[in-house]
Amino acid sequence: MRTASALLLALASGALSQHVIQFTVTKGLPGTQAESGSALARRATYSEQLINNISGAGYYVHVKVGTPAQAMTLLVDTGSSDAWVLSYKADACINSDSLVKCVDTFNPTKSSTHKVITPQGFKVKYLDGGIALGDYISDDFTIGGTTIKSLQLAYVTKAARNTGILGLGFSSSERAAHKYPNMIDQLVNQKQIESKTFSLYLNDRRTDYGSILFGGIDTDKFIGSLGIVPMLKTNGTYSSYEIDFSSITITLTNGTSRSISTDSVDHPAPAVLDSGTTLSYLPEEMASVVFSLVDAAFDPVLNYHLVDCAYLDREPNFQISFQFNDTATIVIPIRELVLNVLGNNKVDPSIPFKRSCLLGIQSTDIFETQGIVKQSNFTLLGDTFLRSAYVVFDLSHYQIGLAQANLNSSTTSIVELKAHETTLPSATGVAAQQTTSTPTTRPIASLAPASKSGATPTFSSSFSSLTQVLGVTVITLISAMIGSGTLFVL
Ligand SMILES: *[C@@H]1O[C@H](CO)[C@@H](O)[C@H](O)[C@H]1NC(C)=O
Ligand SMILES: *[C@@H]1O[C@H](CO)[C@@H](O)[C@H](O)[C@H]1NC(C)=O
Ligand SMILES: *[C@@H]1O[C@H](CO)[C@@H](O)[C@H](O)[C@H]1NC(C)=O
Ligand SMILES: *[C@@H]1O[C@H](CO)[C@@H](O)[C@H](O)[C@H]1NC(C)=O
Ligand SMILES: *[C@@H]1O[C@H](CO)[C@@H](O)[C@H](O)[C@H]1NC(C)=O
Ligand SMILES: *[C@@H]1O[C@H](CO)[C@@H](O)[C@H](O)[C@H]1NC(C)=O
Repeated sequence: MRTASALLLALASGALSQHVIQFTVTKGLPGTQAESGSALARRATYSEQLINNISGAGYYVHVKVGTPAQAMTLLVDTGSSDAWVLSYKADACINSDSLVKCVDTFNPTKSSTHKVITPQGFKVKYLDGGIALGDYISDDFTIGGTTIKSLQLAYVTKAARNTGILGLGFSSSERAAHKYPNMIDQLVNQKQIESKTFSLYLNDRRTDYGSILFGGIDTDKFIGSLGIVPMLKTNGTYSSYEIDFSSITITLTNGTSRSISTDSVDHPAPAVLDSGTTLSYLPEEMASVVFSLVDAAFDPVLNYHLVDCAYLDREPNFQISFQFNDTATIVIPIRELVLNVLGNNKVDPSIPFKRSCLLGIQSTDIFETQGIVKQSNFTLLGDTFLRSAYVVFDLSHYQIGLAQANLNSSTTSIVELKAHETTLPSATGVAAQQTTSTPTTRPIASLAPASKSGATPTFSSSFSSLTQVLGVTVITLISAMIGSGTLFVL
């Protein structure tokens, strides 16, 4: 998810290495039913109810906080920088009228290692005027079997989400008045990993598990060579995972292709890689070409472009590829972008399709027409993009490594990143997408050495696809609408 200001500006340890931490990321939340259809149909205004109903979308990790350890489920968010947990007293969690069913909450009175750092130091404001706030605290934090001592966290007592968030961005974008070393900084400071780097593998949309690896690169999880792209500064500092994006190429089933360069856009539109955003958003000049090539139709009630679900069967070779600075290309097959999530939901009568699907690419214009931002001069690459990619976020060298994901990989081959390196190493993955099918009802294997073995989550997603696809984007929109540019966005 993006902060308002940013929008306005635009375990495993391999046998040889001790200094990497890997764990599974799980799609969706357990035990919550999605309100398919109806939620969308009524989405004329963004209601808090709706946020609550669909807030289970996204990718989650399991962590433990405190002594003795309390289990937490947190949304993985490369678009924000604070980690926060929900209080056991959070209004939304204890209010019986509330539709929020909190997944895991934290009780600091039961933790002997908890300390308050800044009472009421963490603040978030929602579109509906509700303010989410809490204290900055510190406590021991366990992830993938590795414990970080006294990590600064936000302890949220008022919120419109049913889980906390694990923000993986730069500490310069924290909400705190005094910036502090966040989780990635502390993994390095406390010598759990050597390089301030993590690799994100969300995996196939039809698979419930992906993984995240701190301190290393898993060369079994991508195809070909890892392209290295420099991150861009915003207002003179590195504050978000923003990279130069050169063009997209749309290839039709009959082999005809059409490229659209970012040069055709009349303003800069750097791409932000954000795991907390569900869909992907391109500048209008580029998105409109995609819309016309897939015959998309805009639904004025849903506020999204829809596409005929028949694309899923009719156009097997239809794909859209993204080029970055001539060094990386990510190909996204149409099946990843035609999202069959509307069910029997009523769409606007003007929509010409027998069955409507949501398009995984939308225009950044909707942020502008809805008054969320003044200028939609950015590209937001969310989960519909990230699932097709293996992405290495290198905070030490301000670089992003990008390669096509080798989907459903259940093997690992980890290259540990060392402190003395001056750049991301050039790494080569597997030669081609693996064709052996692997079980997906179980999380991918955790390779933690015995001394570090963390419990691997074993629940599977019980969310409907609607929830998995739409939720976080909507939250992002709502949060982004705060608009002042000073308040943080969930
Ligand atoms: C986007 O527009 C805003 C003004 O609305 C400006 O401050 C910002 O620098 C622009 N960003 C880019 C990347 O052009
Ligand atoms: C959210 O879920 C509740 C209960 O499941 C339902 O009554 C309500 O209509 C839903 N809200 C929206 C906006 O879909
Ligand atoms: C990955 O696994 C899922 C679930 O078994 C399957 O539906 C999908 O086709 C697989 N993807 C690839 C690229 O093989
Ligand atoms: C950009 O940096 C300047 C100078 O440090 C500062 O005055 C301004 O508020 C910053 N703008 C944003 C949007 O952060
Ligand atoms: C491929 O299909 C597109 C769209 O239907 C059409 O415009 C184009 O002429 C076709 N190209 C070839 C080589 O058949
Ligand atoms: C492209 O990447 C190269 C090598 O990392 C870098 O020197 C160059 O500045 C990049 N160009 C842009 C436009 O980002």
